[in-house]
Amino acid sequence: MSEHPTYHAATAIRAEKNWATIAVLIIAFLAGMAAFAGIHQATMPQARVETTDPTTLHLSGEFVESNLGTALEPDGSVTVRAIGQQYSFTPQCILVPTDTAINIRATSADVIHGLLIQGTTVNTMLVPGYISVQNARFHKPGEYLMPCQEYCSFGHEGMWGKVKVIDKAEFMAMASKQERLSCVK
Ligand code: CUA
Repeated sequence: MSEHPTYHAATAIRAEKNWATIAVLIIAFLAGMAAFAGIHQATMPQARVETTDPTTLHLSGEFVESNLGTALEPDGSVTVRAIGQQYSFTPQCILVPTDTAINIRATSADVIHGLLIQGTTVNTMLVPGYISVQNARFHKPGEYLMPCQEYCSFGHEGMWGKVKVIDKAEFMAMASKQERLSCVK
């Protein structure tokens, strides 16, 4: 009953300021977390890390030469397997169908390369020892340039590949005759 009213007001204002500071700190913290998570995800290999031995790439496993190129999966999607090495991609020209879920799996046989398909969201690093996975879908036939976008020594500028998108029906006809496809039949 005898408490001074201005004392209450001052306490209330101070409390409000403290809470405002805390709110700002929380927001800053959350924004920082989001930024960190985004940058982290964009710069790191995907969460489910798949590895491969670059020294035996050509001899056994998923990336032997006979398994490279485009494969039609039982679920109707398509898997592309490719290798980057100084200074080319294998296959040099990747063949894919229109209107199909495309799963690209690629790695490097030597140093770090970049795999970028111009005009698409496909853009990843090829790190020796790791499998890079990217998804794509193309809506119309055409050709896309695929430059190496990671400096990989003196031949880097000349390291180019290509993606050729063909009509789905045409692709399916080819896939019925051959298990692994590329632009060169
Ligand atoms: Cu390979 Cu730059």
